[in-house]
Amino acid sequence: MHKPMLPNDTFRGQTAVITGGGTGIGFAIAKYLANLGARVVLASRKAEHLDKAVAEIQDAGGEAFAVPTDVRDPEQVDRLMNTAVEKTGRLDILVNSAAGNFIVDSEKLSVNGWNAVVGSVLNGTFYCTRAAGLKMIESKNGGRILSIVASYAWTGGPRTVHSVAAKAGVVAMTRTLAVEWAHYGIRVNAVCPGPTDTEGARPLWADPADEERLKAKIPVGRFADPSEIANAATYLLSPYADFVNGEVFVIDGGEWLGKGLTS
Ligand code: HXC
Repeated sequence: MHKPMLPNDTFRGQTAVITGGGTGIGFAIAKYLANLGARVVLASRKAEHLDKAVAEIQDAGGEAFAVPTDVRDPEQVDRLMNTAVEKTGRLDILVNSAAGNFIVDSEKLSVNGWNAVVGSVLNGTFYCTRAAGLKMIESKNGGRILSIVASYAWTGGPRTVHSVAAKAGVVAMTRTLAVEWAHYGIRVNAVCPGPTDTEGARPLWADPADEERLKAKIPVGRFADPSEIANAATYLLSPYADFVNGEVFVIDGGEWLGKGLTS
């Protein structure tokens, strides 16, 4: 983990809900926010991931608890946000990191497969954003919402049509709500990581040939460490970014810019 760059009380007294917070990029963001004083509420489907993540944050002196949640179910999402407010008295930050993805030829993608990915990425992000946004509006304290997207939202991404379409929807949602909710004091942004070395993504390059092929497309020549995505996410959620709204912050070592170039 990279050393925090912000003062360690930047988020003191604030509550952050992080979906997909038990693993990968979501967990890296949760650790960073907790390290800077936030109470973090971790939500994901698998209780075993959550317990381990909560224990690690608490062992490091942070405040964390878990609410197992499937973001595809609006009732579970409402319960998540209600629990966060009941237990901590407030809700300041939402990070939409829950996602699902797999590689498949589009003509072979079943309706259920489409719904599994679009349901968690696009619908889940809206359900969480709506439920958290209502709490933030009601509190009159404003808030910050951050989603994790991918550059194939604008370049397209063969064999991931479900994820591409869903992430493109999240980019559009981010820009729309940034304008619509600014008068409530709610900032809405996104981070756009390139390939990042997480447990969830690692199967994509389990074959060394795939790893080499993917790395060759990244100008800096390596995958991101989750902490590098957390650095940018934390900045966007902090007061240092109070004038940043509707932004999609790409952190990919130059990968997507290189797509149109040959070398
Ligand atoms: C084809 C598949 C499939 C696969 C699932 N399905 N996996 N089809 N190829 N590999 C189909 C199933 O056959 C089923 O359709 C439907 O999807 C639902 O599958 P379930 O397993 O019942 O769904 P569920 O348990 O809800 O799983 C959701 C999931 C799963 C999205 C399918 O993969 C998941 O939960 N993943 C979370 C972790 C993850 O995806 N991490 C990757 C994130 S990293 P039928 O028709 O058979 O009923 C990442 C970075 C990308 O995204 C970076 C790119 C460089």
